Amino acid sequence: MEQQKKVLFSGIQPTGIITIGNYIGALRNWVKLQDECECIYCVVDMHSITAEQVPAQLRKNTLELLALYIACGIDPKKCTLFVQSHVPAHAQLTWTLNTITYVGELSRMTQFKDKSRRHRENINMGLMDYPVLMAADILLYQTDIVPVGADQKQHLELARGLAQRFNSRYNPTFKVPEPYIPRQGARIMSLQNPLVKMSKSDENPNSFVSLTDTPDDIARKFKRAVTDSGSEIRASEDKPGITNLLNIYCAFSDKSLGQAERELEGASYAQFKDMVAQAVIEKLQPIQRRLKELLADKAFLEQVMREGAERAGTIANRTLSKVYRKIGFYG
Ligand code: TRP
Repeated sequence: MEQQKKVLFSGIQPTGIITIGNYIGALRNWVKLQDECECIYCVVDMHSITAEQVPAQLRKNTLELLALYIACGIDPKKCTLFVQSHVPAHAQLTWTLNTITYVGELSRMTQFKDKSRRHRENINMGLMDYPVLMAADILLYQTDIVPVGADQKQHLELARGLAQRFNSRYNPTFKVPEPYIPRQGARIMSLQNPLVKMSKSDENPNSFVSLTDTPDDIARKFKRAVTDSGSEIRASEDKPGITNLLNIYCAFSDKSLGQAERELEGASYAQFKDMVAQAVIEKLQPIQRRLKELLADKAFLEQVMREGAERAGTIANRTLSKVYRKIGFYG
């Protein structure tokens, strides 16, 4: 039975803020998937350093993200939960895959072009190589499925391409991973501009809600959220602001769109915003409480990290050894 479970891999960068968009789009689904699949969840600190980090902050964010995974319901007994830099095979396989990756295909990556445009002062090789490191993450574990958002699809395509290239140049070594698109899950958009995705890197903190925002922050941010003309509360294309708030409301109160629209008939925008804020606060409160407890028990978190790295390392090294043998490394 165990062997039939599909292997699922995913990761988030420890760069500080995790928004309710990340929660709805990723973390909440990760929790649901942990019984169905053999889940491997990673804190991808090596990806983070492709942008400049403050060392003490990165260290803190790494521990906090691991704690947040657990606080959201990811069970380190059911999953493999680990920090990328604790498993050297990620860097080792990246180097190997680099030699079958063309500079052209990396320089054409949308995210690379985008980040280079935004950070002209730090277009480092790591930034360009980011998708190869991500491919190594995935391929080391013979991953079947990778839950990814639209912005990571091109990277997953590269991982598939590299697996196929290696397999055909040598012989079948890597499983070719499939993207996994969650059944439901509306995209959560910015509260200040509902036409763009909610992002933690938005300059305006009122545009996103972090999982660690206080109830007052949350209430204030929803009060200031951009709405649309008219007064009706219904989802439609010409009402991107209200539609976004409705999606958030539904996701956080486990209601369908139809249910919510009926319930909200006759409510004012102000009342509605209050209700959205309350739904979010209510769902986040137990997570925040658990997070606080976890962060007070550093020994436990460090034990989770150690055990996770050991489990992940065993699987990853098995794949890496095969790769090294095939390419002709003496050993
Ligand atoms: N690049 C991903 C993101 O920014 C994070 C990531 C790193 C990842 N390695 C991965 C996601 C492997 C899935 C699988 O969202």
